[in-house]
Parts: sequence; C-alpha cells; structure tokens
Amino acid sequence: MIFCFSGTGNSRYVAQVLACHWNDRVEMIGPVLTDSHPVFTLQPEEKVVWVFPVYSWGVPPVVVEFMRKVTLDVVNGCHHYMVCTCGDDVGLAHRQWRRIVRGRGWSLRGTFSVQMPNTYTLMKGFDVDSPDVVKDKLAVLPSRLDEVIGSIGRGFGGDDVVTGSWAWVKSRIVYPYFVRFCMSPRPFHATGDCIGCGKCVRECPFSNVTMDSCSHPRWGSRCALCLRCYHICPQGAVQYGKSTAGKGQYICPLEK
Ligand SMILES: Cc1cc2nc3c(=O)[nH]c(=O)nc-3n(C[C@H](O)[C@H](O)[C@H](O)COP(=O)(O)O)c2cc1C
Repeated sequence: MIFCFSGTGNSRYVAQVLACHWNDRVEMIGPVLTDSHPVFTLQPEEKVVWVFPVYSWGVPPVVVEFMRKVTLDVVNGCHHYMVCTCGDDVGLAHRQWRRIVRGRGWSLRGTFSVQMPNTYTLMKGFDVDSPDVVKDKLAVLPSRLDEVIGSIGRGFGGDDVVTGSWAWVKSRIVYPYFVRFCMSPRPFHATGDCIGCGKCVRECPFSNVTMDSCSHPRWGSRCALCLRCYHICPQGAVQYGKSTAGKGQYICPLEK
C-alpha cells in the first residue's frame, strides 16, 4: 500500500515507480480521504509506504491530518516507510513522521529523501530550478529510486535522508511558524491574463478552487499550499500576493 500526497507531480511519479515495481496500489491523499474517516484493510506483512513532498522541513499538514485519522486494519506484520521528496533537504521531517507513526502504534521501518526539482516560489529568494538543474536532478532520479526500492526490499530500518544544515532550527522553529502563519490561501489571485480556462479548478487536488460567475477563479479555505494551481496555469496568471511575480513554473514532466 502506498499513500501519496503530491502537488506538482514529483511525489506522484515516485509513488507510481514504487507501485509499478511491487505491483502495489497508490492511494492519493485528497479531500475524500482527509474529510472522512478512511479505513484501509492491509494484508499481513504488507509494507506501507508514505510518499509526499517536504514542506518547510516538515510533513505537510494534510499528510499529518490523514495519518492521524486513517484506520488501518490488520496492522500485524505491516511495516511503514517514508519516502519524502524535496528540492534540497528535509531537515528533521523524518523524525516528525516517525513520531506520528509511533504514536499510532504502527511498526516503523526506514525513511528516505529523494531530491527532485524545487516547486516552492512563495518567498523572496525562492524560485524553481533552472532547466539545467531540473535536467540534472531528473537524470539521477532512476538510480536513487533503485536504491530506495532495494533498501525497502531488504527491510532497511534507518534514515537515508539529506537533513541539510540547521536542520533542528528549520524543522523545530521554522516549520511550526510556517504552518501557523505562511500557509494561507488568501494571497492567491488570478491576474488580468486569466482566460478562464478552469485548469486551476480541475487540477486542484483538494477541489479548493472554484469559478465565480465571471469565470474568475476563487480560492477557498481548504488549501494544502501545494502550488499546483500556480504551476499549472497556462497563462502564468495565478499569483500569490506579489511574491510570485516573475517567477518560474514547474510540473513534473514524468507525471502521468
Ligand atoms: C509549501 C512548500 C514548501 C516546501 N518546502 C521545502 C523544504 O523545506 N525543503 C525542500 O528541499 N523543498 C521544499 N519544497 C519543495 C518540494 O518539497 C519539492 O519540490 C517536492 O518534490 C514537490 O513535490 P510534489 O511535486 O509531489 O508536490 C517545498 C514546496 C512547497 C510547495
């Protein structure tokens, strides 16, 4: 069983590669799963792999919410793994994930980070990677995924993650601040370049974007800040306050 949350397709691609290798199923964490009280039945000894992007050196709040409310039947012999995609490094996100798994009484195994093209553009100094960097990161992806698949196959129980510098400060101080104050959907708006195509509405993983009577997108309060609406807009018309002006867009080119 693979649980996946993904905004711009990096984590979804990773989940698909793992699923393809093990002939496993992928459950996307979306509105149905976070709104209700989902129940999944696992086979004995089944591995449970959690694939998601790191958000501000922590676990995205929608993933935390889902992990806290999901019911997993037949947990005996089932081991949990984390595969966290990131632009650079994950800080101590793996420790946060471990605490949640332990709190649920599930059996813990290994954690992995997988570096992929960056998608965060909402602050000064943050932008998507240059085409060369995207190409370089995607070129080494297959070998990294082979490593992850091999380690999970052997039941690896350690942490194979890039924590980066100042990991404690980033995960323990910046992450809670970010979640509390920097995840509001309110700054999202469409500029005059919007042609009302509705792609942002159709593509939002949480159905949080709707069209008003003038064919203008409006953002509701249920936003994961995954930035899919921003990155997918064919006109570059979705902006976040003034902080995304002139910045690039990225959707995982491998996404199916
Ligand atoms: C809100 C947000 C916060 C992010 N924070 C980090 C971070 O702390 N460290 C990092 O290396 N990448 C960070 N990123 C980049 C993503 O984790 C990375 O690009 C990931 O592969 C995107 O996965 P997805 O395409 O499945 O959404 C962030 C992206 C977003 C949207």
